[in-house]
Amino acid sequence: MMQTEIREASTFIQDKITTSPAIGLILGSGLGVLAEKIEDPVTISYKEIPHFPVSTVSGHKGQLVAGKLEGKQVIAMQGRFHFYEGYSMKQVTFPVRVMKELGAESIIVTNAAGGINKDFNPGDLMLITDHINNMGTNPLIGPNDAELGVRFPDMSQVYNASYTDHAEKCAKDLGITIQKGVYVGNTGPTYETPAEIKMLRTLGGDAVGMSTVPEVTVAGHAGLKVLGISCISNMAAGILDQPLTHTEVIETTEKVKEDFLKFVKEIIRTLPQ
Ligand code: 6GU
Repeated sequence: MMQTEIREASTFIQDKITTSPAIGLILGSGLGVLAEKIEDPVTISYKEIPHFPVSTVSGHKGQLVAGKLEGKQVIAMQGRFHFYEGYSMKQVTFPVRVMKELGAESIIVTNAAGGINKDFNPGDLMLITDHINNMGTNPLIGPNDAELGVRFPDMSQVYNASYTDHAEKCAKDLGITIQKGVYVGNTGPTYETPAEIKMLRTLGGDAVGMSTVPEVTVAGHAGLKVLGISCISNMAAGILDQPLTHTEVIETTEKVKEDFLKFVKEIIRTLPQ
């Protein structure tokens, strides 16, 4: 029974932390540095937490960091679980359930993504206004636990419009240019072919990655408010005449780190409680 597992994980974490997190942060490839800015941090390795899967990919740490950031109580996932690693959709999204159980009311989900929109450039930050689930499955498949959410959740407003507006204002205040657009969630682990990227552009996608959609789907089900931010680490296939590498993804996120940190900290600092 998932409720029991969620409670066991949550109780375990609750016993170790002194704060009661209002905001959950899911930090993508190369973006885990934000967790290092958390004050009075309590760090819990995923390995220790009952029912938590363990992360495997390099560049992704596997720990929760709870504490204060810009005056707000937060809990951050430094490293996430990806479907392409072989985890089930339930495993990938389990931490979101636990964050909700810990008392979080909102989550900020970040990722590194490939740019599909030709107006984008590597290093751009994009506010996710909507997504396309192109993963061929859904974390909510299976019996629905009414305690966790409704059977047929509305997905028309999962990316909270006031949060997006708020983030846009923060970007303006900081002089950071920001893009807005639709995130396509693919399974990976392959990057796309040029023909696939052309298709995704036709379908209305602006950026593509291998995460976020499962977590945001479950967050929507759980009634959490969501803000999504993609770091455009590279242009997707067929736009520039060069192969894609994970190294490029890491190098670009390294370069935008400072802006990303400033941006998310400002969002959190000024986020209405
Ligand atoms: Cl081009 N595609 C996917 N699926 N994920 C990415 C990416 C591209 N760039 C960074 N992450």
